Amino acid sequence: MIRKAVFPAAGLGTRFLPATKASPKEMLPLVDKPLIQYAVEEARNCGIEELLIITGKQKRAIEDHFDSAYELEDALTKKGKKELLEMVRKLNHINFAYIRQRAPLGLGHAILCAKPFVKVEPFAVLLSDDVIDPENSLLADMISIAARKQAPVVALESVAAEDVEKYGIIEGEAGADGVYRIKRLVEKPKPSEAPSRLGIIGRYILTPDIFDILETLPAGKGGEVQLTDALNRLAGLRPVYGYLFNGKRYDAGDKLGFLRATVELALKDKVLSAGFREFLVGLMKDEFSSLHSRP
Ligand code: G1P
Repeated sequence: MIRKAVFPAAGLGTRFLPATKASPKEMLPLVDKPLIQYAVEEARNCGIEELLIITGKQKRAIEDHFDSAYELEDALTKKGKKELLEMVRKLNHINFAYIRQRAPLGLGHAILCAKPFVKVEPFAVLLSDDVIDPENSLLADMISIAARKQAPVVALESVAAEDVEKYGIIEGEAGADGVYRIKRLVEKPKPSEAPSRLGIIGRYILTPDIFDILETLPAGKGGEVQLTDALNRLAGLRPVYGYLFNGKRYDAGDKLGFLRATVELALKDKVLSAGFREFLVGLMKDEFSSLHSRP
């Protein structure tokens, strides 16, 4: 059973500048919910109730989002807006711990900051840039594989050859149960050096022995302490597994991926979908006719 989850959120969000100059990228909304709330709900749907956010400078809005908002709640109560009040209040009942990463030294370093919170049990890591379809059971599946194998598990996706440079890439072989036994992991390799096209997506079930490795691990790609490098060392010491995800994932850490996620999630939204679909169909018709009317 996994009781604890860690949400690294100290990154600078440079891919979304200027929006992220003074606001956390984790608070960018997909339709009406900030990215980090999707990840938090995903963990809680798996029964994980001890949540740690690794924060940094300019990240106060995340703490405020999950705190009580007395004036807002009071105003909504007085206006009798029960549904909105419920929506706001349900966020106040989640217990969070926060640890500040003093400098953006990489994902590996962010995970090391979680050591005093995690202590000695296996734990989940969720990167809120990677948004998983809320109806999917990826994290629950990973938790049961980790329990069965008594080992760390990372989520994998088959990525395009030109995209291997954006991911941690694994070398491994699928067992009879379809789960990959990982031999080696490389952080963001050049396409010519990638051992496969199996990229790590932002869901991990880790074991506390990762901290021993992270404590002495030198900086890797981009001068940052890389979780992928730590997992690569771990894979030399004990079995590490990869679970190939076939469901829907949105890379909301990238502008195009963010736009795709916005459109698809809006199309799934009960209230918005009909009107939004009509708008998109109209837009496509206009695009189509302008394409055909060009000389
Ligand atoms: C991080 C990891 C990378 C992983 C990716 C998944 O990179 O370092 O190994 O594949 O998350 O989203 P980032 O996207 O933060 O640069």
